[in-house]
Amino acid sequence: MAQIIDGKQVSARMREDIRRRVETVRDRGVIPGLAVVLVGDNPASHSYVKAKEAACGDVGIRSFDRRLPSDITEADLLAEVAAFRANPDVDGILVQLPLPHHISEERITDAIGSEKDVDGFHPENLGRMLLGRPRFLPCTPFGVMKLLETIGIDPAGKEVVIVGRSNIVGKPLASMLVQKARGANATVTVCHTATERLEYHTKRADILIAAAGKAGCISGDMIKPQAVVIDVGVNRVEDASRKSGYRLVGDVDFSSAERVASWITPVPGGVGPMTITMLLSNTVDSAESRASRPADG
Ligand SMILES: NC(=O)c1ccc[n+]([C@@H]2O[C@H](COP(=O)([O-])OP(=O)(O)OC[C@H]3O[C@@H](n4cnc5c(N)ncnc54)[C@H](OP(=O)(O)O)[C@@H]3O)[C@@H](O)[C@H]2O)c1
Repeated sequence: MAQIIDGKQVSARMREDIRRRVETVRDRGVIPGLAVVLVGDNPASHSYVKAKEAACGDVGIRSFDRRLPSDITEADLLAEVAAFRANPDVDGILVQLPLPHHISEERITDAIGSEKDVDGFHPENLGRMLLGRPRFLPCTPFGVMKLLETIGIDPAGKEVVIVGRSNIVGKPLASMLVQKARGANATVTVCHTATERLEYHTKRADILIAAAGKAGCISGDMIKPQAVVIDVGVNRVEDASRKSGYRLVGDVDFSSAERVASWITPVPGGVGPMTITMLLSNTVDSAESRASRPADG
């Protein structure tokens, strides 16, 4: 049976360290600040935002909340973002995605500016990551890298297969893992919906990362014996036995996969908690840069 990669536990340990960093930077007169902007009333976005704000409070980061109606114009949202960008007490800006259809996510992401882009989605930060000169790394892939590091798995020379090529998970993760750098240096294959014979690729993986958003699309017979399996997927499936009427599952069929893998992340409790922790870490990085800049004037 595979060993479980406990993202909650890893995350809790990392948050202790983040809390200490916050104390140190506060001693230097800087209170780390994160602006959290939520547009509309998507229930999933609401719960993500609440979790992020609670996590900020937990480590001593000040959060600046902004709840805006779904019919806000793009111009007004750009003005809100610009105000946070100009606010010296704000080290990071997070605009919860998805945004209503009449607003361009690209324009909003660009408006955040690379220097406060703690989500790591700004084109400049993605470009820097690709060049091996990172500033803020996208939180979910960064969390996956930390999990591998924590369990002592060095991707160097290993076959890594990623299922999914989104801009927020698959592509940045591939770019991080392929760097000629410590903790990376892997041989990376990225699969997607045009990939033929998916299982041919997944079965070659020493490290298999599922980020397709399809419940149970990776079963145990698609996994190489003793592979490390990281499940990024979070999918709702109906479950009449739950009060909510659903439960969360990953992209990996856990019960068949745990019999084949050497290590595996559960869903929930694997990658999910790491995403928020990396957001906190990026925000403190930004606050530390502020603390080391000479004061204006
Ligand atoms: N734990 C966390 O903190 C966290 C954070 C972010 C996302 N997630 C979860 O991770 C999953 C992926 O998120 P995302 O935003 O990257 O999703 P996305 O934008 O929908 O991208 C999914 C990717 O998977 C590929 N794909 C879908 N079905 C496939 C299949 N059957 N075989 C091979 N490739 C397939 C798609 O290929 P094409 O490009 O060809 O369409 C696409 O590249 C979702 O379940 C999401 O909820 C979790």
